[in-house]
Amino acid sequence: RASDRVEGLLAQMTIEEKAGQLSCFADMIRPPVGDMNPLVNLRNAQTLTAEIQAGRIGVLMNGVGAQAALDTQKAAVEGSRLKIPLLFAADVIHGFRTVFPIPLAEAASFDPHLAERTARAAASEASASGLHWTFAPMVDVARDQRWGRVAEGSGEDPYLGEVMAAARVRGFQGKDLKADDSMLATPKHFAAYGAVAAGLEYNSVELSEATLREVHLPPFQAAFAAGAMTVMSAFNDVNGVPSTANKRLLTDVLRGEWGFKGVVISDYTSDQELVAHGFAADDRDAARLAILAGVDISMQSGLYIRYLPELVASGAVPMAVVDASVRRVLALKEAIGLFDNPYRSLNPAAERARTATPALRALSREAGARSIVLLKNDRGLLPLPKAGKRLALIGPFADDRDNVLGAWGGFFADKSLNVDLATGLRAQMADPASLIVERGSDIEAPIAGGIERAVAVAQAADVVLLAIGESETMTGEAKSRTDIRIPPAQQRLAEAIAATGKPVVVLLRHGRALALEGPVRDAPAILATWFLGSEMGHAVADVLFGGVNPSGRLPVSFPLDSGQEPFFYNGRTTGRPAPADPNAQEYKSRWRSIRNEALYPFGFGLGYTTFAVSDLRLSTQRLAWDETLHVTARVRNTGPIYGEHVLQLYIRDRVASRTRPVRELKGFQRVSLAPGSEREVRFELRRENLMFVGDGDRWVAEAGVFDLWIANSATDGLAVSFELLAAE
Ligand code: IFM
Repeated sequence: RASDRVEGLLAQMTIEEKAGQLSCFADMIRPPVGDMNPLVNLRNAQTLTAEIQAGRIGVLMNGVGAQAALDTQKAAVEGSRLKIPLLFAADVIHGFRTVFPIPLAEAASFDPHLAERTARAAASEASASGLHWTFAPMVDVARDQRWGRVAEGSGEDPYLGEVMAAARVRGFQGKDLKADDSMLATPKHFAAYGAVAAGLEYNSVELSEATLREVHLPPFQAAFAAGAMTVMSAFNDVNGVPSTANKRLLTDVLRGEWGFKGVVISDYTSDQELVAHGFAADDRDAARLAILAGVDISMQSGLYIRYLPELVASGAVPMAVVDASVRRVLALKEAIGLFDNPYRSLNPAAERARTATPALRALSREAGARSIVLLKNDRGLLPLPKAGKRLALIGPFADDRDNVLGAWGGFFADKSLNVDLATGLRAQMADPASLIVERGSDIEAPIAGGIERAVAVAQAADVVLLAIGESETMTGEAKSRTDIRIPPAQQRLAEAIAATGKPVVVLLRHGRALALEGPVRDAPAILATWFLGSEMGHAVADVLFGGVNPSGRLPVSFPLDSGQEPFFYNGRTTGRPAPADPNAQEYKSRWRSIRNEALYPFGFGLGYTTFAVSDLRLSTQRLAWDETLHVTARVRNTGPIYGEHVLQLYIRDRVASRTRPVRELKGFQRVSLAPGSEREVRFELRRENLMFVGDGDRWVAEAGVFDLWIANSATDGLAVSFELLAAE
């Protein structure tokens, strides 16, 4: 039973008003990008306002602006019969007006505190523009880099995914849900959207129950444990049942097993898409299947408004099912204080004060620099001096301000804040004129004479900075690629530049792991710079010139070759593992041409200093069933400058009743050390951390020997082993 207020409202509602509370529509009253024709905008706004006054809308999404939100809320609160306030939702994914690194990049920081701070900042800025609810974080574990939405999540590892999911939920929601700057978080897309076959967007998902529960569900559970009160159902099916009609997932697992009390919202028209899936006969059937499966709010299709009244009248959907959903939606509105103050977060003065502030820009820059991963730095080519060297900045991203934000960034961003590379670099150079810019190639097509001009510029320089990679439109939703290499036109540019013999620093622009080849792979220095947001140019310059010592680590494996995808470090053991000797290849689990390993593994990243890890110790090598294992190691900064290192704890279950991953990340810690100093780092492990999904699809722990590594990446480390003893 909900509160008296909610029950009181429910008792007065018609079925049409109930369906209204369960319907979310795109906000055409304050759209981020309106129709070119002002009359169309006006008509859309008038139609929506009339619908709101008729009680036929409960949620508006993706609108901006506090004043217009205030007026719209008045239409609901003063103009509708039951005066139920609207929820304003939006895809505030990695910033709003001020944009932070794409979530994948930020995951490379291996710094949940940073993720919490950027989510908090995004919520503060977005809520000031009249928003209560964000459709974030995306917590889909993505093991196939061909999938475009890899950019929006935390990469290939469930544990890193859990930690980041929880941090972002805490950040978006803040400490007090009723606060003016709190935004409801929505982990999405439930479930297993990251496992679409072949990385093909919206494709089907075929998954064992064990992989579903061990890999794809844990970040959702972490998000709920951190307080998320809503979740979005996915576009994809799971083993033949579309997520948006998946009663087992949406009701049995989510509510039954996990006790989730919040609101399920469909993805954009994903209820209607049950028809295209061939799962529902028609729209009416789709509405029936979605609500019976557990979808509370229908996004954008309008199916609930159209069909719930007759579905209830005919008995196809019990009124009690509709009532349960309405109760949850009203309880959500109540939880964030909307009934007491429908105008919370709708304050034009706050909007001015909290938008694109210097503090937000500073955080974007800091987050950007902390998300960069130094993949290679032969002979200490980096950092570069700020004076005394002629630099050639070559490549399509050299002075490009349109491709710094990444997926979703362009939706609400104030693009006038965007800082391109050339601007960021020049701002830190003693003589800005010693940086020469030449694009040399467009992102996907050659420029006439571009390579020749770029080669001439490179020849006149001491160091070449080669800014190449993917455009914003090559990553994100509906942006699957068959091949994750650098586009051919840019690869040709890289070949011509390498032939000059000048030292090259590759600055990768990307929303996924890439397969690097030839002179790009072989360049003496490579930085993974992703899409870093509004302050991209400054953030990259901070790392290039050594103002920031890079400490990012890869949240996704860089394969040796595109054809290895899906590729991830934590695959299960095979009966014929690849041999250590690359020439002994017969009848082993490897490809004919290459070894089955990463060019740069998950967790990998360099800095401008070095660290040594030693003294790995366990509190016991015979761990009792209910005992806690204490793991300690020492880490020392053996290089010349201050730096941060990410120590990673991996395990492997040597013998079990299921084949187990070759390694699994179970913990990580970021340590900051002055040169020459050292510290002890501690981890804890319990039986719960050693469990897997076994017989009967149930979580089990099995006694036996485990390997344990304290490592700098998924493929190195100091190793020990211990035995989990059977229960007494
Ligand atoms: O939140 C998004 C989702 O991730 C993809 N489809 C549209 C939704 C709302 O904009």
